[in-house]
Amino acid sequence: MKSHVLRPLWVAIAFVALVLLARYFLVPDDFGVHGESFTYNFYRAGNVQEWKDFPVKFRGTAVCVDCHSENGEMLAASPHAAIQCENCHGPGRDHPETGEPDVMILDRGRALCLRCHADLGYAGTSRAAIPSIDPVRHNVDSACIECHAPHNPDLEEME
Ligand code: HEC
Ligand code: HEC
Ligand code: HEC
Ligand code: HEC
Repeated sequence: MKSHVLRPLWVAIAFVALVLLARYFLVPDDFGVHGESFTYNFYRAGNVQEWKDFPVKFRGTAVCVDCHSENGEMLAASPHAAIQCENCHGPGRDHPETGEPDVMILDRGRALCLRCHADLGYAGTSRAAIPSIDPVRHNVDSACIECHAPHNPDLEEME
């Protein structure tokens, strides 16, 4: 055979050999240990345990109310009942085991509330499922929580 045919052939063979060599070193030992099937076997067995060990950041309201029963009862009987504590206070993973209550966020600013209550001003979005206010008009000089209790914002109970 002429060398202009052979040369690219060698290049192709070298390329395949390189790929196989790289695979040998790079594919982890526990990849595909459950048999030959491509469909159900294309994963690293150790990855299952890695996800089991992955620390969950959010713990859910049920955990919080174990200790904060007063806040829990108040929230449950309010228009905010559907909102998770951690939606406003941030992930509770390291609280209170670390002995540091201040790992929980205590955001007293307007932005916390406006995230849900700002009237977006597009047709069909105001007065929808979430009662909304105009953030540049509604009592702009004060924090929302000076008038509305975050754990029970019920307008009928407003002082
Ligand atoms: C094992 C009991 C326990 C659990 C569970 C618990 N907390 Fe606490 N929490 C405490 C203690 C103790 C304090 C500090 C004393 C206090 O301020 O009441 C505290 C303080 C707080 C504070 C006030 C922080 C500050 O800077 O004043 C917030 C907010 C809070 N917790 C939210 C939560 C949320 C949200 C959850 C659920 C993810 C939760 N806690 C779960 C015991 C607990
Ligand atoms: C809509 C947002 C929101 C939700 C939901 C919420 N909180 Fe709060 N929480 C606040 C804000 C804002 C403050 C600060 C209030 C203040 O300083 O007057 C606060 C204060 C606290 C405090 C410290 C002062 C206090 O009242 O004891 C604790 C503890 C607390 N929240 C626990 C909880 C727990 C437990 C839940 C769930 C059952 C929860 N919060 C749900 C916004 C929220
Ligand atoms: C995660 C979204 C969310 C956040 C954050 C939030 N709210 Fe709400 N809020 C709601 C929803 C949803 C309702 C309406 C529930 C319903 O009508 O069933 C509501 C209702 C209200 C109402 C009307 C109560 C009534 O009687 O009609 C007020 C006032 C209110 N929230 C104030 C606040 C304040 C103040 C904050 C900040 C501390 C806040 N909200 C944070 C979702 C949120
Ligand atoms: C100075 C007191 C005060 C402050 C501060 C305040 N509000 Fe209000 N808010 C009221 C009063 C009073 C009402 C009921 C009458 C009305 O609709 O204006 C109300 C009504 C609402 C309603 C119900 C609207 C509706 O049509 O159902 C929401 C939601 C609300 N406020 C959210 C907020 C949020 C979010 C903030 C902070 C960005 C805030 N408020 C700051 C006094 C206040």
